[in-house]
Amino acid sequence: MKILVVGNGGREHALAWKLAQSPRADRIFVAPGNAGTEEVGENVPVPANDLAGLVAFAKQNAVDLTVIGPDGALASGVVDLFNSEGLRVFGPTKSAARLESSKIFAKEMMRKLKIPTALAGSFERSDQALNFCKRLQFPVVIKADGLALGKGVVVAQTRAEAIAAIEAMMNHGQFGEAGRRIVVEEFLRGTECSLHALVAGPHYRLLATARDHKRAHDGDRGPNTGGMGAVSPADNWSEQAEAEFYRAVMAPLMKGLAECGIDFRGLLFPGVMMTEQGPRVLEFNCRFGDPETQAILPRLRSDLVDLLEATIAGTLEGCALEWDCRKSVTVVMASGGYPGPCDTGKRITGLDSCSGSTDVHVFHAGTRREGGDVVTAGGRVLAITALGDTVEEARGRAYETVARIDFQGAHYRRDIALPSVEGNVAAD
Ligand code: AMP
Ligand code: GLY
Repeated sequence: MKILVVGNGGREHALAWKLAQSPRADRIFVAPGNAGTEEVGENVPVPANDLAGLVAFAKQNAVDLTVIGPDGALASGVVDLFNSEGLRVFGPTKSAARLESSKIFAKEMMRKLKIPTALAGSFERSDQALNFCKRLQFPVVIKADGLALGKGVVVAQTRAEAIAAIEAMMNHGQFGEAGRRIVVEEFLRGTECSLHALVAGPHYRLLATARDHKRAHDGDRGPNTGGMGAVSPADNWSEQAEAEFYRAVMAPLMKGLAECGIDFRGLLFPGVMMTEQGPRVLEFNCRFGDPETQAILPRLRSDLVDLLEATIAGTLEGCALEWDCRKSVTVVMASGGYPGPCDTGKRITGLDSCSGSTDVHVFHAGTRREGGDVVTAGGRVLAITALGDTVEEARGRAYETVARIDFQGAHYRRDIALPSVEGNVAAD
């Protein structure tokens, strides 16, 4: 069969790489892809936000299955468009994807369904948002309602920082329409865990867990990023946490979505804070995580094509999910300046020395080919995943590979997959 993967990040490289392993996959297209996806499929020059272009490509090339990577395309209704054209597509509809594209909608659902989450208020006026901050202890968390490239969450340490963040989002157009309405919520202490579930409501199957490292610098300091590395399985998850998560989060959510007439089919990725009081939902994402996918998929033994198809068909109950019991560690190499504005076009060296090992995968994110070279083309450039019998072994292998690769301005965290004993820190 012919499969189209939409997106150009490390997540999409990992998805295309895994889908290509299926005996059922004849051709893999990636729109628009990067220098890495070219090695596992054929790049197609259609951007992920060109919905009509994607539909046209799928039709012209008789694509059997399209897999949507990024949140923006889902929020714009790419799945609705594919469905209306009779094209098979993996991902939630625009209405279902509101769980991610509107934090106010997600918070409202959680409040209604009594899903454990941070105490929060939703606001359309900045004076009311500021007033609400008085009811909370600092730090407080300010969140743009809409999608903001992973940058729409500010942890404000002081009232002055809260005022600045609220003003910037609501009155000065930072994040455009996405920041006109905001959520203000209490700061939760604990360690984070990323859960991925294939969902064909009301049935779902949890994938292996992962722990992301969101902050830019070692010791969980510095600004939030899209994610600087991941480890799978997460070291802060347990059978007890899983049972609690099924009971307190998934069961009411499945019921609540059905009651709202929302047929969620796709990947649901709740970001959870493991607090002393148990798991608390920070957010719902409606697509695979990045870089979690790069850590999770190398551990998946089952055929991903079968699983995505079963999700679309609503036959998940009969699906077997098999995992490699080894651990995986993913280290992201980013461009100088990331998560702020960064330089691109820098030549990447050392990539050739990394091929050959089945336990190490170099997933490309912001890369492109320029003549015979691979050059940087974005903030997060590469995601290097290694497997090992222990986390230490996987870490060692991942960092050995990172040390062989270089580009001007490259930076990465040195503490990916170290135990999360301390929990998140409020201070930068
Ligand atoms: P979100 O997009 O809502 O997941 O927020 C991005 C990141 O901000 C999360 O992964 C956390 O690291 C942090 N964050 C969000 N909400 C909270 C909260 N209520 N308490 C502490 N940290 C938070
Ligand atoms: N790594 C977090 C995300 O994909 O949203």
